[in-house]
Amino acid sequence: MSPPAPVRARVDALRAQLHHHAYRYYVLDAPEIPDAEYDRLFTELQQLEAAHPELATPDSPTRRVGGAVLEGFAKVRHRVPMLSIRTETDITEAGAQAFDARVRRELALAEDAPPVAYVAELKFDGLAISLRYEQGVLVQAATRGDGEVGEDVTQNIRTVGQVPLRLQAGGRPVPPVLEVRGEVYMRRDDFEAMNEAQRLKIAQGQKNEKTFVNPRNAAAGAVRQLDPAIARQRPLSFYAYGWGEITPPEAGGPAFASQFELLQALGAWGLPVSDQTRRCVGAADLVAFHREIGSRRDQLPFDIDGVVYKVDDLALQQRLGFVTREPRWAVAHKFPAQEQLTTIEAIDVQVGRTGKLTPVAKLAPVFVGGVTVTNATLHNEDEARRKDVRVGDTVIVRRAGDVIPEVVGVVADKRTHEAPPFTMPACCPVCGSAAVREEGEVDHRCSGGLFCPAQRKQALLHFAQRRAMDVEGLGEKLVDQLVDGGVVRTLPDLYRLGVANLVALERMGEKSAAGLLAGLEASKATTLPRFLFALGIRHVGESTARDLARHFGGLDRILEADVDQLLQVPDVGPVVAESIHRFFAQPHNREVVEQLRACGVHWAEGEPAAQAVLPLAGKTVVLTGTLPTLGRDEAKDLLEAAGAKVAGSVSRKTSYVVAGAEAGSKLDKARELGVPVLDEDGLRRLVAGDLPA
Ligand code: IVH
Repeated sequence: MSPPAPVRARVDALRAQLHHHAYRYYVLDAPEIPDAEYDRLFTELQQLEAAHPELATPDSPTRRVGGAVLEGFAKVRHRVPMLSIRTETDITEAGAQAFDARVRRELALAEDAPPVAYVAELKFDGLAISLRYEQGVLVQAATRGDGEVGEDVTQNIRTVGQVPLRLQAGGRPVPPVLEVRGEVYMRRDDFEAMNEAQRLKIAQGQKNEKTFVNPRNAAAGAVRQLDPAIARQRPLSFYAYGWGEITPPEAGGPAFASQFELLQALGAWGLPVSDQTRRCVGAADLVAFHREIGSRRDQLPFDIDGVVYKVDDLALQQRLGFVTREPRWAVAHKFPAQEQLTTIEAIDVQVGRTGKLTPVAKLAPVFVGGVTVTNATLHNEDEARRKDVRVGDTVIVRRAGDVIPEVVGVVADKRTHEAPPFTMPACCPVCGSAAVREEGEVDHRCSGGLFCPAQRKQALLHFAQRRAMDVEGLGEKLVDQLVDGGVVRTLPDLYRLGVANLVALERMGEKSAAGLLAGLEASKATTLPRFLFALGIRHVGESTARDLARHFGGLDRILEADVDQLLQVPDVGPVVAESIHRFFAQPHNREVVEQLRACGVHWAEGEPAAQAVLPLAGKTVVLTGTLPTLGRDEAKDLLEAAGAKVAGSVSRKTSYVVAGAEAGSKLDKARELGVPVLDEDGLRRLVAGDLPA
């Protein structure tokens, strides 16, 4: 029995709406309805299709959900081969010029003939896919395979939101047969989120789960996943960049004159095409495109490994033809690779200024991201264990932009040895003090403090750096000598150096000794923010140092400040306040400060900023109940303007509770803890500076 006409009409309407909204959401990234509304329409369609199976069609939006687990993929013979593309070997800009020169030669263009027009595109780093549309409906998706025969991955590709299941009318009529060629890839943020979720599953003990080394591998794995339910959870994206079989004009298909026109048509039919594609004229434009994309590469939300240039004019493309399996009219022009394979020669542990122990992989030198890399941080023990990096392993090293090189992962099947997993040493590798990992922290720290030569050296270098005390002439080598020779143990020791100590050092003549002493002398005239930053207090960077100086005006007020007063400094939270307080509570740190001043280190002091003298600075007040005249926000504003923090719950740290009518549990709690309780009048006296004893 065929379903009643209204059901059929509703199903058609739902499909049309869902196609439209999927396009808005996935391709244009501009949804018109909330997700919940989409879900509602989707569920309605699913229910109607379940009740009337004869209404199911291959392009129904419900088909994105995927089907049964496969034994393997069926083979698909490409009606138009999926060619590969020649790679320009010169990764500098000369590559673009070489391609243009080749095209001109092969077209036998005279030297003074006008420049050739090109289309320049991004080279997406994913997996090539062919999508076959018949009468505008997606009927098959296939991988490239060997270019002639690929695998049928239709089920999985249907789950990719950006792949239209049905083309939309737009611009020119949709050809009866259209094979779209493009790249399935994974955005970097989707990749990170997916790996994070995978890590969680692994941590929860789920077997057979793994993380992926990069977005390309993750995308390729998802496309070739036999279980479409799993494929559906992998966040894939798609860009169209070309075509295979297309109904020719003589058989009723649309006619195109250029690559660019066809790309625009693909976009109009609802396929995602990159908005980074440019029309270029001549080699100079290609060079400029390569340079521009190269500089923005790291800001793109997905990985690319280069750009692609294509001769724009389809008649010229035809004239140029192919060599073996590569078109003469296109070339891939790569950027320096951001990932390379290398081996781990050792794992060292470095000691930072604050005693932080960092495992660092020593690598067989490898050229990656434009520089030779020999070290890559493993961050901390957990991270090194998570990646299971061991000495002798072959690893993937990544360096993108200015980011420090990192070990992305181990190539597991290249491990032929049985090196043990990495463990953090129990003692500091430099001074032998215990290495401790405090609860809730990921880092191990050397407990040796300034007894540890490594920390001492780092502390001296930090102190002397340009943005701190700016001591000219005090570099790493000299600090090594001074510390290793026992000449300098503390920061003030620097200012006690004389020509005699210095000339005794290797490679130190009288002239350089005099230079360093002059540098030290000049550094004594400084500013309070520089001085505070130079002390190397944990969590106190340049900007916090500036805030502290501005807020307190002078050093002594900072030395005497308690945690509550420190919390009044803009942007200083509990962790930072605690760290500053702890630092100055240590007698030896105070001594260092005094000795530095005694050595002549000086700066101009100022007045504390207005807030510090506010009557309620450092006080925490809790409001409860209804006050007779003041609204809640008014009361809060008054208190905050007087420097108080207004908190939501009562604790031992609460300075006052202001209670009005109908005050509940907060008032009980205040009484229980002995926190002073005030009424509205009391609040007014409080903000005026008339504090109860
Ligand atoms: S065109 C006949 N354009 O690069 C030319 N390929 O072939 C066929 N790729 O795995 C390729 N971005 O999947 C072309 N904008 C782009 C591309 C692109 C990425 C991939 C393609 C293939 C590889 C080289």
